[in-house]
Formats: sequence, structure tokens, C-alpha cells
Amino acid sequence: MSLNSRDVITYIKEFTLVEGENINLFEDIPSTEVEHVEINKMKIQRFVNEFWTSKQRQASPLHEVSYRACFKPQLPRFFINLLTEEGDRVYDPFSGRGTTVVEAGMLGRKIISNDINPLSQILTMPRFFVPDIKTVAERLNKIPYKKDARAEIDLSMFYHHETEGEIVSLKNYLIERSLAKKEDPVDSWIRMVATNRLTGHSPGFFSVYTLPPNQAVTPDRQIKINTNRNQKPEYRDTKKLIIKKTKSLIRKLKKTEIKNLYNAGRDSLHLTKDARNTSEIPDESISLTVTSPPFLDVVQYDKDNWLRCWFNNIDAKKIAKNITMSKTIDEWSAVMQYVFLELYRITKKGGWVAFEVGEVKGGKIKLDEYVVPLGITAGFSCVGILVNLQEFTKTSNIWGVKNNKSGTNTNRIVMFIKDS
Ligand SMILES: C[S@@+](CC[C@H](N)C(=O)[O-])C[C@H]1O[C@@H](n2cnc3c(N)ncnc32)[C@H](O)[C@@H]1O
Repeated sequence: MSLNSRDVITYIKEFTLVEGENINLFEDIPSTEVEHVEINKMKIQRFVNEFWTSKQRQASPLHEVSYRACFKPQLPRFFINLLTEEGDRVYDPFSGRGTTVVEAGMLGRKIISNDINPLSQILTMPRFFVPDIKTVAERLNKIPYKKDARAEIDLSMFYHHETEGEIVSLKNYLIERSLAKKEDPVDSWIRMVATNRLTGHSPGFFSVYTLPPNQAVTPDRQIKINTNRNQKPEYRDTKKLIIKKTKSLIRKLKKTEIKNLYNAGRDSLHLTKDARNTSEIPDESISLTVTSPPFLDVVQYDKDNWLRCWFNNIDAKKIAKNITMSKTIDEWSAVMQYVFLELYRITKKGGWVAFEVGEVKGGKIKLDEYVVPLGITAGFSCVGILVNLQEFTKTSNIWGVKNNKSGTNTNRIVMFIKDS
């Protein structure tokens, strides 16, 4: 049964967090608030409610992979459940850590992911082929570890020399497997977990106390952190930590989810392309796209990811050049216009796009209002803008909503349909 835009609008307007999933603290939550905004002389409806919450049925720990600017799994889940059925194909052109496609895979959908940053594929693809602990442990035991192996760069401010020896041995093993085209799903899983354990703030990571792996600091800055905290890198057993994180990632997976992921993975495509040009994706093959593009806020991918790139033998500077980092709205819109044209080509008739833009520059830039004409120019109809408030405060003007925390939890999603 496929929904049309009228059905979806009715659902959204009548929405309350129920269906046994509602652990909502706000008992007196009103039904969806509807505003009308005029964009390019068109009246667009904006729906405001607490459509999903992190307190809602908890996201699977399988998503616990750190990545800058990722969204909560509840966001894609809302759209996947509402707009697709098992076997439909779900796509994310700016896939990041793979939140949309991993959630879609668990829910029995087929998937395609794309992200110009190759780290995305490294973090996403292995989670479709979930190994058991014993297999991971056996593989780790076969890897030739040389405690005295050294990196070609000085990493002594991050790692105890024996830990560094293990990391370099693992890196070399993975390079060899990849060059010999022998890297299998178990190797890729180990690569994914190790990439996530490289640096962090607890003994669960390979490094001495530092920032998380998606925000690696420079060696100089780490030396200062060490001096300030009066710390020295201690030995970490990397094999044990990889096993521990593996257990944690898979701890709540049901058998059906593992099977669904496997089937989705077997039939998947993971691209590392510019989202404007994804010719590998056939015309009219996608039922739903749920995505969140790079924003105007500059994320310094080469700086933040230098250590993850080093471990995976990736040239961070080259990658950073390809990543869209628009300084102005006009530049950003020009890129996204082409993305929408491509999305229109690949979307099935009657298919959907949910395009999430967070709150940019503290809410001063209403990026959602810029997105509406981009989708319409490409050929889509705009169903409306959905605003999810995490801590709902009734107000007639949502832009006036003050959040207690710095930053905001608000997601703004522009919904489009390709008319049949
Ligand atoms: C906001 S993040 C997406 C995060 C994702 N929703 C998640 O949950 O992990 C935007 C992503 O767009 C990617 N990106 C930037 N420019 C791109 C382009 N031109 N084509 C494809 N991907 C791009 C970045 O590498 C980044 O991973």
C-alpha cells in the first residue's frame, strides 16, 4: 500500500507519539502545530511536533559509531516506517556513518549509500555483515602483531609504544589484505571498529585521554593536553578493545535484524562519489531518500579525520578538497540544485525525499526555506516541512523557541514526492 501526499499530511497532522513507543514525558503534548510559510509565492505548510525522541524505543547500539554531524537513527526510522515497505530501496547521498542505510537495512529495506568521504564506506559497509565474536577473535589472533612496529610519523603523544606497535601491525595487515584483494567482511569489521577506537576520552580507546576519533587533535595540541593533565599514554590491549566494542555494537541485535542486514548488504551499492553525479544508480529505482547534506558550517574534515585517514591509508587533504564546503547560501544552493536533479532522476514515481537541514548559524539561516525551491525546480512536489522538537514548548512562532542547551535539538526536514 503506497501513501500519497494527502495521506501523509493527515498522518503528520494527527500525529501523537503513541503505539507503545511513547515514553514521552510531556503528557499534555499538543497535536501537530501547523504554520504556513510563503516561499517564492508558494504557501508551504510547516508541521511542528515531537515526532520522534531519543527516549523513544532506543536506537540499536549498532549505530554507535562516531561521525561528525550525524543524525539520530529515530529520524530515518520515522520516514522509513511511514513511507516504505519491506523490499523498497532507501538511499542516502550524504551517508556519513550510514545512519539511514543501516536503519533501513535492519528494517528489511534494500539500500544504496553514497558519500564522497571514503571513511563513510569504511564505517558503513561492514555493519551489513555482522560477524560473531568468536570469528573476530580468531581473526585477530591470526594477525601478525609486532610490538616494536613504528608509524612513519611520531604518534608517541597518543600511544604507548606497544599500543602503537599493535596499531601499525594491524594497519599493515589491512593494507596487505586490501592490495591482495583478500579483505573479507571480517577484516572490514575489524577495520571499522579499530577506526573507531583510535582516539577518545576513556580507556576504551587505544589512545591516552584525548578528543573522540572524529575530532582528532594535532600532535602539538595532544602534547599540551598531556602536559595539562599530567598524563602519559599507557598500554592498551587493542585486540581486547576491538572485541569489547564488537560485543557492544552487536549486543541488542535480533536474529531477524542480522538477517535483514545481510540480505540488504548482499544487494547494496556503496558509492564514494559526488552526490551530483551518481550514474551507477539506475533511473527511478529509489523509493525513499533520507539525507542530511553538508551545511554552511565548516567541518574541517582533513584536520578532524587525519588520524583515521592515516590508519586507513587515505589522503585526507585530497578528500577534503572534494567535500562540499560552501561559504555562502548561493554557492550551497547551486550545488544542492544539481543534487536534487540527480535525486529526481533516481526516484521512483510516487517516491519520496526527506531532506534534513539542521539549525544553521543558531537558527539565523532558515535553510529549509532555501531547500523548498531547489526540490520543486528539479520536478518534485513539496509536501511540507517537518520540524521535530525534542523538548517541545508550545509557541506560535517556532523560531522563538529557546532551548536550554546551547545549540539545538531541532531537526527540519523538507519532504518531497515525485508525483506519479
Ligand atoms: C551532515 S553529514 C551526514 C551525516 C549522516 N546523516 C549521518 O548520520 O552520519 C554530510 C556528509 O556529506 C558528505 N559530503 C560532503 N560533500 C559531498 C558531496 N559533494 N557529495 C557527497 N557527499 C558529500 C560529507 O563527507 C559528510 O559525510
